[in-house]
Amino acid sequence: MNVKLFSPFTVDFAFVTDLINETDRNKIKEYILNTAHKYSKHQAIGVNDISSHGETNEFILDVFPELKNKIQDAVNEYCKQQNKFEQKISNSWFNVQTSGGFTSPHRHPHSAYSGALYIESNPETQRIEWINPLEAFSGPDGASVECVPGGLIIWPSHLVHFVTSFSEDRRIVISFNTRNV
Ligand SMILES: [Fe+2]
Repeated sequence: MNVKLFSPFTVDFAFVTDLINETDRNKIKEYILNTAHKYSKHQAIGVNDISSHGETNEFILDVFPELKNKIQDAVNEYCKQQNKFEQKISNSWFNVQTSGGFTSPHRHPHSAYSGALYIESNPETQRIEWINPLEAFSGPDGASVECVPGGLIIWPSHLVHFVTSFSEDRRIVISFNTRNV
């Protein structure tokens, strides 16, 4: 697995592109789309959009243990490359967003690192963005990454991030948090 670190503003992020193949991605997509009706609409991420976050005891990565192990391996490699303490995936959820979907600026409390794995996305119209914490009083100076299908991004959970409104394209993402082992 190729875990590539990058540092947009003094803290390290990781980007992994070879974590999951298209067949497995489609299987997971099917499961999520078949399950999505169980969850209520979630205004914080856009009208008509659905999130399993906080609505259930079922963590999406527990349904796919093989994928969870691969993501855990990527987290381990990310921590190792930074000489950081080991982390364990603590919870996970999915979001399904449709036309005009967005995610308001937020951070993930009670977590050391967070991640997003794009199950379905369009890199031409969808980006995830982070606000530079060092520039909090002098305007936006953030980082952003295209939402590449199959791409996994890991970043420190205290960073404020958001996804802006995009066109017709659907976006399905699995997100997770980690805690110290
Ligand atoms: Fe988030």
